[in-house]
Amino acid sequence: MTGEQIGQVLDTLVVTDDAVPVSGADSGFALPDAMLRLLNRVVEAAGVRNVFEFGSGRSTKALLAAGCTVTALEHSQSWLVQTLASLTAEERSRLHAICQPLELVFYQGAPFRSWVLDGDTLQRLSAAEMVLIDAPAFPPFREHALSVSLRHSGGGLIVVDDGGIPTVRRFCARLAGVAGTMHRESPIDHGLYFMVRGAGAGSPPRRRLVETAKAWRRYFMAGSMCPTGL
Ligand SMILES: C[S@@+](CC[C@H](N)C(=O)[O-])C[C@H]1O[C@@H](n2cnc3c(N)ncnc32)[C@H](O)[C@@H]1O
Repeated sequence: MTGEQIGQVLDTLVVTDDAVPVSGADSGFALPDAMLRLLNRVVEAAGVRNVFEFGSGRSTKALLAAGCTVTALEHSQSWLVQTLASLTAEERSRLHAICQPLELVFYQGAPFRSWVLDGDTLQRLSAAEMVLIDAPAFPPFREHALSVSLRHSGGGLIVVDDGGIPTVRRFCARLAGVAGTMHRESPIDHGLYFMVRGAGAGSPPRRRLVETAKAWRRYFMAGSMCPTGL
């Protein structure tokens, strides 16, 4: 499917009853049921079979249960063990799980804790028909994963969780607001931001200086709040 066709699919799905903000049961750090249902509908309607996930958990289980093949990149061994324990043997056979620590990376002059992907992982990312960015757990750090996903995109749908957080919304709007990139938002629960980079899409604009200064401040604040390295 082209980005335009996926945009049309999203236009029909995000007006359903599920696609409104809900205050359902707290699922902690994981995606709540309503969001998983919407993602499953997108997967079905867009014919997605091959998914790459930044992070793992309930979404991994849901995507495997929907019949997809999943590559999940996770920094937390204990979280991954929990995810694996939730899967059937058949589901595990369709999961390629990578446990890799977050490290300090820079994107457009701002620091993030994120992943540096090796060649095999980048190939998996490029081949994915859907990329779900729901990690690192500190949502502002996902800007780096999104920039890598757009740069290496093979035309798949990229979905960012926590689009309801102003910082996340701003970096999604900036990175997706390029001619040739389809983008849509859903206000469902945490908020989802969808995008497909077209073959001829240009490079994203640079971040404003004030946003870069905020990213530096967030980096140091996240370090003091999360010494375990989120
Ligand atoms: C926001 S969670 C969601 C992952 C997945 N998409 C899901 O639906 O479950 C993203 C990451 O947060 C981390 N995480 C999960 N629970 C956590 C907790 N209680 N404290 C800190 N990090 C946590 C895990 O490493 C996970 O990959």
